[in-house]
Amino acid sequence: MEEKIMSGEVLDEEDADTNIRPERIDEYIGQEDVKQNIKVYIEAAKMRGESLDHVLLYGPPGLGKTTLANIIANELGVNLRTASGPSIEKSGDLAAILSTLEPNDVLFIDEIHRMPSYIEEILYPAMEDYMLEIIIGGEGNTRSIRINLPPFTLVGATTRAGDLTSPLRDRFGIIEKLQYYTMDELMSIVKRTSRVLGVPIEDQAALELASRSRGTPRIANRLFKRVRDFALVEGSGVIDLPITKKALDRLKIDEKGLDETDHQFLLAIIQKFRGGPVGIESVASAIGEEVATLEDVCEPYLLQQGFLKRTPRGRVATHLAYEHLKIEYQNTIFN
Ligand SMILES: Nc1ncnc2c1ncn2[C@@H]1O[C@H](COP(=O)(O)OP(=O)(O)O)[C@@H](O)[C@H]1O
Ligand SMILES: [Mg+2]
Repeated sequence: MEEKIMSGEVLDEEDADTNIRPERIDEYIGQEDVKQNIKVYIEAAKMRGESLDHVLLYGPPGLGKTTLANIIANELGVNLRTASGPSIEKSGDLAAILSTLEPNDVLFIDEIHRMPSYIEEILYPAMEDYMLEIIIGGEGNTRSIRINLPPFTLVGATTRAGDLTSPLRDRFGIIEKLQYYTMDELMSIVKRTSRVLGVPIEDQAALELASRSRGTPRIANRLFKRVRDFALVEGSGVIDLPITKKALDRLKIDEKGLDETDHQFLLAIIQKFRGGPVGIESVASAIGEEVATLEDVCEPYLLQQGFLKRTPRGRVATHLAYEHLKIEYQNTIFN
């Protein structure tokens, strides 16, 4: 039972070589405000000899939530237990994991917005009073038992803070939003990965990679590995600008970092729905994608880059989107 929770969802590629994941807070690049705050809270908790207050981290996929959860445990010098929202199905699953915690340990729950509500209710007293209350037995013969837990820190991660119920959200003392990374920060991340993997990259190539990584370290690292392959097989082994451009074009990543799904998304709005406004469900079914993928992965970046607008009547493709896709702008009354 515990085995299932611990294994969580499908392993990400980057988990295979954990060495590119920073382990200490000073190796964690960017997110300066978040980092400075967390440093202070960790220091204060250590000075008091208490557990760190519960932490909620939110933001688009690949920005470093899991990494930061690991770092928090490392910096506190405690154990990290990991679970993921959808994999906790029975109250016993959560009880099993909670009852193994040692004082001040970190329990990391990824995708915490996908936890069933009856599990959430077990979490309330656990978070507030370090108390585990479980009902055992069957019909007509139930009793509840209470178990005291050691003080611990729950670190929750979510791509959708808005999907959290307010009683759950209110129980986090520390709530931090991760932002898209700047070009400089992404370049530092690419260079760090290059050092860790022992594969040199030229500055111009690192800049090119950074600018096509849509502000996201996970994407920067993935692209780095693919470009490395092209450099090995089709280049001189060195990651320079020409081989980087060639590889990224082959991967169909455009100069703004948009991939095929982003293109399909914008093209569908423009060509099938006259530029919008259109509901996300309609776009999703037009291109055969899941609504959640469009909302969690594509949209935040398209919005941030100004290719897309959200209006009460639905999504609208902006002037910039037409320009970027080299399509003549059609004036709709909604623009
Ligand atoms: N601030 C950072 N500095 C350096 N590398 C980072 C940073 N944030 C994320 N990464 C890299 O990006 C990858 C994805 O980060 P992760 O924590 O798994 O994202 P999330 O949990 O938000 O989806 C990590 O394996 C790590 O190598
Ligand atoms: Mg994660």
